Amino acid sequence: MPVISGFSKLTKEEKIKWVVKHYFNDDQSVVEEFENFWHPDQKIQDNMDEFSENTLTNFYMPFGVAPNFKINGKNYCLPMVIEESSVVAAACNSAKFWLDKGGFKTEILSTVKVGQVHFKYKGDKAHFLDYFSELKPQLLEGAAYLSASMEARGGGVVDIELIDMTAFEPDYYQLKVGFETCDAMGANYINTVLEEYGSLLKEIISKNPSFSNIPDVILCIVSNYTPDCLARATVECKVEDLGTVNGMPPEEFAEKVRASVRIAEVDPHRATTHNKGIYNGVDALILATGNDFRAVEACGHTYASRNGRYSSLTHCSIENGIFRFWIDLPMALGTVGGLTNLHPMVKRSFEMLGNPNSNELMQIVAVAGLAQNFAAIKSMVTVGIQKGHMKMHLLNILKQLGATEDEKKAAIEYFKTNIVSFAAAKFLLTTLRNDKKVH
Ligand code: MEV
Repeated sequence: MPVISGFSKLTKEEKIKWVVKHYFNDDQSVVEEFENFWHPDQKIQDNMDEFSENTLTNFYMPFGVAPNFKINGKNYCLPMVIEESSVVAAACNSAKFWLDKGGFKTEILSTVKVGQVHFKYKGDKAHFLDYFSELKPQLLEGAAYLSASMEARGGGVVDIELIDMTAFEPDYYQLKVGFETCDAMGANYINTVLEEYGSLLKEIISKNPSFSNIPDVILCIVSNYTPDCLARATVECKVEDLGTVNGMPPEEFAEKVRASVRIAEVDPHRATTHNKGIYNGVDALILATGNDFRAVEACGHTYASRNGRYSSLTHCSIENGIFRFWIDLPMALGTVGGLTNLHPMVKRSFEMLGNPNSNELMQIVAVAGLAQNFAAIKSMVTVGIQKGHMKMHLLNILKQLGATEDEKKAAIEYFKTNIVSFAAAKFLLTTLRNDKKVH
């Protein structure tokens, strides 16, 4: 396939033309298709185009809502952007389940974010480590001007530590910096301060005659692992108040949920799927609020491995007749900056949530994860996951087979007692259509 230089300089129309020529046999219907997905309001489309580079068109995702979430006594309707069927339905199911049982309780456990200056220093280790108590105030003071506006909002640099990493890589040290970034996700602010620390580190050491070596700075970058930026969401009630769940007595249901969570705590294979289900809910809300779902996921998975073995992000206990189910979820979120003021649907998501600050948003996201996990386990330990999944899957299959409304009704009825598969659905539709011809 051809290579092109200066592609980014082409107009959007020229980019489409080039792509269609080389990758779609110059099929003009593909040009039309790309254009049909443009927003009719040019201002909105320009805005969309500028979120990224080399934009040809828009890629639609369903924007749904899950109402009836009671969080700390307040009712919320969660915006969810997700392409997987059943996720929004599962969130709604969980919200409804806990609505009359006290709802979800949440708290912020901590809000510190992290950035690092990774560097090599080949000189005397003891002297360097010893000097850090003098170096630290100079770094803090030298870069203080970059934190003025963050400090005015109540944030800034929390602490700087010097970490000796020479046991893992020769001459490798890091400045590990804690930040409070208030309602901003903070990556830009953090990276700016870190780069300044990197320069100051070299400058200060080079001017000090007691050092014969200058540190060699390798990377200055935010860490997406923020174990101390943590929200907890909990649901709890008396076991008997769980009621009969899909025909299962409350005691048996509670124990099966507890055992399911325990399995995910001890088995990484199960934990991966279990946590994936949690991120079905988390990512949907993260996308709807214009946050960075890759950062949020990466953080959560590292946190899930913090004890040396990948494990469940949720936990469950049954003590003194009380069923308790909770999640501790680390994440760095922003409610200002980034897409939050630019994407029209992100703005609507925030409005729907009552314009939360970042601490509130973290708590709502933790609820979305917990609710999603509860709904999945609730299905799996009672009726099985396929019942709900297959209903949605069946609708997709019927759509692919071009089923009419009457055929859809007949198929839904038929598959209440038969196993869904593409072949079975095709066979059913063929039979229905042949029967129609005969009559
Ligand atoms: C599917 O997207 C998510 C589940 O597999 C999660 C789980 O197994 O806990 C249902």
